[in-house]
Amino acid sequence: MIRQSNHITDAFGRKHDYLRISLTDRCNLRCTYCMPEEGVALRSKNEFMTSEEVIQIASAFVSLGIKKIRLTGGEPLIKKDFNNILHQLSRLGVEISITTNGILLHKHFDSILEAGVTKINISLDTLKRQKFNLITRRDYFDLVYENIQNSLLIFDEVKLNVVLIKGKNDNELIDFIDFTKENKVNIRFIEYMPFDGNNWRKELTVTQSEINNILQLNYGNKIVKLLDDNHSTSRNFKIEKHLGTFGFINTITNPFCDSCNRIRLTADGKLKNCLFSSNEMNLLYPLRSGKDIIPLIFKNINEKFRNHGGINSFEKDSHIYNKNRTMIAIGG
Ligand code: 5AD
Ligand code: SF4
Repeated sequence: MIRQSNHITDAFGRKHDYLRISLTDRCNLRCTYCMPEEGVALRSKNEFMTSEEVIQIASAFVSLGIKKIRLTGGEPLIKKDFNNILHQLSRLGVEISITTNGILLHKHFDSILEAGVTKINISLDTLKRQKFNLITRRDYFDLVYENIQNSLLIFDEVKLNVVLIKGKNDNELIDFIDFTKENKVNIRFIEYMPFDGNNWRKELTVTQSEINNILQLNYGNKIVKLLDDNHSTSRNFKIEKHLGTFGFINTITNPFCDSCNRIRLTADGKLKNCLFSSNEMNLLYPLRSGKDIIPLIFKNINEKFRNHGGINSFEKDSHIYNKNRTMIAIGG
């Protein structure tokens, strides 16, 4: 019998209290590192969670001690029922946050605020319009930038996610850090990660020592190390007198698996115990046939690997992550 308490603890004693729900595997951008060039096959609507099912599954998790829910995608704001889902989730009494590409934010500011959301993560890989079009294959830079500026006025905490890729945007590191001078924002530089169909190569990642050299050259002893939260995935810094801060999420080279408290629910209702795991537990179909999904949740978390879904080397174990989903179908 795996069910021991009403908390979700894995075989290594890690307590899981953070659920990331992907509301859709579709997006209004086509970021090259996230989506395969040929796009993502359309699947029947019936394979995905309805709003009611999202709430039902989320409620089951809350009864098991989940304290925080993050809505992701694809792009969560394109989900037809987004405002309704958000409203209902806000009544579960847990912290809700959102990761978005920012394009549709202006249409949802009111409902997001009404739901009591105070923190938001927005993806932005470049401060240059032309490059934005190249990376995302869409022309939305001005809109996203404006929505970021307004988010800074509205929310208590705004984080910008920047996926650093060698030869693409690594030359903007300093521009991004300069952006923290006048803006109370936390910029998170995310190490480029391999997923099915995204052409990852180790040479395209920017190493922390390369980054440190650039930082030292530009800011020297003005760099201040900040204290990081318990479950923080990033190591954070600021430049003296800047309003904002910045950090590095080095999922591959500096894993934070030891303190992992995350569970993921995909838009088609599958539980993923790790970003890199290809072992998924379908919760949606059992839910539809009236089964108790709680033992399934415990079973899947009990099978969680200690590190990176069982991948030892990202260069050698490509057969494992190529069995995984594309990033757009996981939700980050
Ligand atoms: N490597 C690192 N981060 C990625 N994201 C999407 N694909 C990748 C990848 N291959 C990021 C997005 C978004 C977050 C949810 O995940 O930029 O900010
Ligand atoms: Fe959409 Fe985010 Fe993927 Fe870009 S990285 S295609 S914004 S889900």
